[in-house]
Order: sequence, then structure tokens, then C-alpha cells
Amino acid sequence: MKVRKAVFPAAGLGTRFLPASKAIPKEMIPVVDKPVIQYIVEEAVASGVEQVIFVTAQGKSAMEDHFDKAYALEDLLDKRGKQKMLGDCRDLWTRVEVVSVRQHEPLGLGHAFACARNVVGDEPFLGMLPDDLVDNPGYPCAKQLVDVYNKYQCSVVALMKTPRELIDKYGMVVSKPVSDNVVQVFDCVEKPKPEDAPSDLGIVARYLFTPEIFQALSETKPGAQGEIQITDAIARLARKGRVYGCIFKGERFDAGDKLGYLQATIHYGLKHPELGAQFKAWLKNLVQGI
Ligand code: UTP
Repeated sequence: MKVRKAVFPAAGLGTRFLPASKAIPKEMIPVVDKPVIQYIVEEAVASGVEQVIFVTAQGKSAMEDHFDKAYALEDLLDKRGKQKMLGDCRDLWTRVEVVSVRQHEPLGLGHAFACARNVVGDEPFLGMLPDDLVDNPGYPCAKQLVDVYNKYQCSVVALMKTPRELIDKYGMVVSKPVSDNVVQVFDCVEKPKPEDAPSDLGIVARYLFTPEIFQALSETKPGAQGEIQITDAIARLARKGRVYGCIFKGERFDAGDKLGYLQATIHYGLKHPELGAQFKAWLKNLVQGI
């Protein structure tokens, strides 16, 4: 079955990005000239997605507005002959359908995915964290997962080799290689101590779930913080042999974290078609003076 939908859980409180994220959703904070979430919607569209489902909360409506038609603005740009800007604004609401559902309380990432159950229905879907950027324009990370799904017809998680000091921030997997960059996952542990981690492969920011995930989530009990962890539901499916992992190719930035955000800004600033060359010259000068 074709993967047509992507769920973006965006109902978290964004405490790592305070005070910037107090009144503005952290997903709407710009990297160079686009909000973070736009990069990820573009990755979804480039991977074949036709419908994006935002899981949102109070104070997050700027995300829906960004992907909606802004009639007065478009009319003005049209009258002033600003066709390039007009095209960029129109692309936001014409290239993909955006639907949103609410998560009334931030009860965890697993719970956020469960909130999208009725809109997803009985089909495979991508899960994409809207504050996590993975740059690979030639082969988007989400498309890499879709290709693994098409081959194995199971859920797929994006995996990366995780430095020891970061292991306690990720779900770490027990797995066996099946090809160059694909593994079968047999179990996973949420945020273990480095000495207890089953491997150095951690789950990051992109998932492709079959509808089986919803049953697994409904059987998953909240953890110590009262949150339903997606890693626990993935572990249930993995123990039944229903999960593969894709060691993705691409540069990844956790833009929900201040350092990751700064790194993303430099990365995308250097690549920017209009600003990149000037920015690079300025940055070189700056670095020489440090
Ligand atoms: P994070 O832990 O990175 O986001 O969750 P957070 O909770 O917003 O931020 P911090 O840790 O307090 O800084 C990963 C993604 O899952 C969503 C978040 O919005 C984020 O995109 N999420 C998390 C939900 O949608 N609901 C939740 O209950 C928890």
C-alpha cells in the first residue's frame, strides 16, 4: 500500500527552547528563511506524502496558518508583480493537504501518535518529528524509510550510530544486519545508561508505521513520568519480528535544542542559493579572527 500520510507530533511544550518557545511554537522558529516545520513538510512531500497530519495543542495554531492560504497577502503580491514570492506562498497550501488533531495534554510521543489514529485510518504512515532536520536533498530520509517499508512491509525506524555521551537521550535497539544500511530490530530500550545500551544504534526522528502500531500503543502503559513512550510500542512490535531499521544517510540537526538549532542555521545558511556565498565569506573572516 502506498505511503500517503505523515503524522507530525507537535504538541510538546518545547522547554529546551525557552524562552523563545514560550509564545511561538518551536516548530515555527525560522532556520534562515523558513520555519523548521516547513523543511520537514518539504521532506515529506519529496517522499510522496499527500496529507500531513499535525498533532497540535493550544498556542500552536501558527503552524496551521503557515500552511493555509493568506488571501490578502497573495492578492497584494500578485498586484505588485512579486511572482516568485507569490509562488512560494502558494506552494505552502497547494502542494499538500494539512489536517490537524489535538493532543489535549502532553502525555508523551506515543500518546501523540495515538491521537492521529482516526485520521490515519488503516494504512501505513510516516511519523516525522517537526523539530528534527535531516538534510539529504538527493534521497530524503523519509523516502529512505518508505523504500525499506516497500521491501519488507513492516514498520521501519530511522537509526543512527549514537555517540556514547548521547545514548541516554535515545531509544537504543537490539538488531541484526540484513543489508548494508538495513537491520531487523528485535527489541529497543528507551534512554538507557551507556553501559546498559544493547548497541550504539539509536532511533531518531523518523518512523514509518504500519497500523499495527496503534494496537501496540493501546497496550503500552505510561512510564515513570506518566508519558506513553513510542519506544515501548515499537519494542512490542519488534519482539514480534515486525520492525526494521534504516541507518539513514543525511545530516541531522536537532533543531529543538539550542546548539542543534545554531548548527542547522549555519548549515542551511551556507547552502542558501542567494545568501550562501556572502555568508560563507563572512563566516570565514569571523572564524579566522577567533
Ligand atoms: P521533544 O521532547 O523533543 O519535544 O518531543 P518537547 O516535549 O516539545 O520539548 P522539550 O523536550 O520540552 O524541549 C519530540 C516531539 O514530540 C512532540 C513534540 O512536540 C516534539 O515535536 N510531542 C512530545 C508531542 O506532540 N506530544 C507530547 O506529549 C510529547
